[in-house]
Amino acid sequence: MSWEESTRQKMLNLKLPTDPRWVGIAEMNLQDVLTDHAYCEQKAASSCISLILRFNDLDELVDTLTPIVAEEWGHFERVLEQIRSRGLKFGFPRKDEYVVQLTDFVKKGGSRIQQLTEQLLMNALIEARSCERFKLLSSNLTDPELKKFYYELMVSEAGHYVTFIELARKYDAPEKVNKRWNEWLAFEADVIKNLEVRGDRIH
Ligand SMILES: [Fe+2]
Ligand SMILES: [Fe+2]
Repeated sequence: MSWEESTRQKMLNLKLPTDPRWVGIAEMNLQDVLTDHAYCEQKAASSCISLILRFNDLDELVDTLTPIVAEEWGHFERVLEQIRSRGLKFGFPRKDEYVVQLTDFVKKGGSRIQQLTEQLLMNALIEARSCERFKLLSSNLTDPELKKFYYELMVSEAGHYVTFIELARKYDAPEKVNKRWNEWLAFEADVIKNLEVRGDRIH
């Protein structure tokens, strides 16, 4: 299966596609959307660091997430370069309504491994949605440099998505992970459906 095909399949896991109006509005708000994107990369790096600190005894997890921290921070740096090279302003972080709502869905309590599964599935979902949005940006923006940039990031985030799911299935019972993943997918579709379509946000 080609990369394109497998990624398409992976993205099809999402239950609701992004509102087609989003990408056009985002293009008109490049400064805000790039700023928001930079903070998404920062949060991706921070969340992997938190997992490493919390689950330091899980060797494969630590060894897998450590290079991802560097990659996400590399993405942050590259987004910042896009902002600077366009003479745009790197703004303040905003409240991330999407992530706040997903965090509320994390099951509290349970075993340590159950908590790990919740966190990994939430991360996988954010990667999947980011991947879907980067694909839209890559296909629809007019700026050739940004098209290429978002294509490359789409490939990278698709890889992270797979990694998070695989880690969850390694440390927890795969059938439990699959069942919970479907619940996460359904919940995320609901969150997307109810969020206002805004061009100054990646999500
Ligand atoms: Fe990233
Ligand atoms: Fe990522």
